[in-house]
Amino acid sequence: MLGHPGRPVAGEPDAEGRQILVLPFDSLDAARRRLLAFGPDAEVLAPASLRHDLLAAPWGVVARYGPPPRGHAGERVRTVVITGGTDGIGRALADTLLRRGDRVVAIARDPRKGRAWLERAAATGAGDRARFVAADLSLVTEANRAGTAVMAEAGAVDALVLCARRYRSARTETAEGVEENFALFYLSRYLLGHGLAPALARAPDPVVVNVAGPGAPLDVVRWRDLELRRDYHGGAALGQGGKLNDLLGVAFAQRYAGIAYVLVHPGVTATGFCGTYDAETLAHVETMRRTAKPAAAAVPPILAAIDAPPAEPLTALVEGRRIAVDGPDFDPGAAARLWALTKDRLGSLAPHEGRPR
Ligand SMILES: NC(=O)c1ccc[n+]([C@@H]2O[C@H](COP(=O)([O-])OP(=O)(O)OC[C@H]3O[C@@H](n4cnc5c(N)ncnc54)[C@H](OP(=O)(O)O)[C@@H]3O)[C@@H](O)[C@H]2O)c1
Repeated sequence: MLGHPGRPVAGEPDAEGRQILVLPFDSLDAARRRLLAFGPDAEVLAPASLRHDLLAAPWGVVARYGPPPRGHAGERVRTVVITGGTDGIGRALADTLLRRGDRVVAIARDPRKGRAWLERAAATGAGDRARFVAADLSLVTEANRAGTAVMAEAGAVDALVLCARRYRSARTETAEGVEENFALFYLSRYLLGHGLAPALARAPDPVVVNVAGPGAPLDVVRWRDLELRRDYHGGAALGQGGKLNDLLGVAFAQRYAGIAYVLVHPGVTATGFCGTYDAETLAHVETMRRTAKPAAAAVPPILAAIDAPPAEPLTALVEGRRIAVDGPDFDPGAAARLWALTKDRLGSLAPHEGRPR
């Protein structure tokens, strides 16, 4: 708060220990210098110009004040693969990881966004730790190609974070003839999880973090119409996709002992909201852009799962709070049913595409 004569005001810490502080400053410059001293874990919410300045602060400057980067004092540099790492929550996570010295491979569709992200990484001195793989993950062939590219380059992958998604108000099929939510929000996560499992298994403490919407009731799944040919609605497609990812987590955790699987619901967050919207949904999205929490506020639970993966094979977090994963909504029978249907669906595509390894 500029020119504010009063004393600092601190809000109550939330479950992750985050606190909102209102700080009085005489000038923007004084605020900039003082806030850099907080290190990279502090985020400026307002004013916007100061927020922008500090987000763009070169790592070298922040490093003078912040915690030492990874790799120093023997701290391990992690390799983290993030789908949708060029926008929204994925990008906020990617930037946080780069800032503290980890390596990030971002996989997303738009090469322009990829280039912009790489340029920002280079400008902050993290260019050699940032890698962008352009892939349309709604295509099985592309998801497999991206997985193969990562496998070829990365020895071990410490964390795979799944954020890519796109909203569609109208039902859309990919060039491979698969409904797009099913293809991108679910199938690509299935393919990359299995595809990268060998690289994850080489890391000492590996984790898959699937950022979606855990905890919906099982009956949102339309078992006889998984690709929503009848009565399509974009919101319902996302709701079903979240549940399919819950079941994916159940099956993955059973199959890969030693790789923790964490389902994360970030809560309503102001992000890129990539998608194609009808007028009514767009108005709702504009409201969320203005009022929802910033993408950086969704990062701490994901970061915590990367830094200290839970001992349990499967965990589900809703805005940082654990929810039970042993009830009927995480039914192993339903997970096995989805697994079988997924294998059939992949088998119905061209023979070389996407068979589970
Ligand atoms: N934001 C929320 O309020 C909210 C609430 C609950 C759950 N979530 C979950 O959080 C995760 C992240 O959401 P977000 O809101 O941060 O997303 P976002 O800002 O809309 O960003 C989506 C990312 O996915 C990528 N992407 C979209 N289509 C792609 C494709 N076909 N192939 C490859 N990459 C593609 C985009 O890159 P391109 O632009 O290059 O395509 C972008 O990097 C999602 O799984 C979402 O379901 C978000």
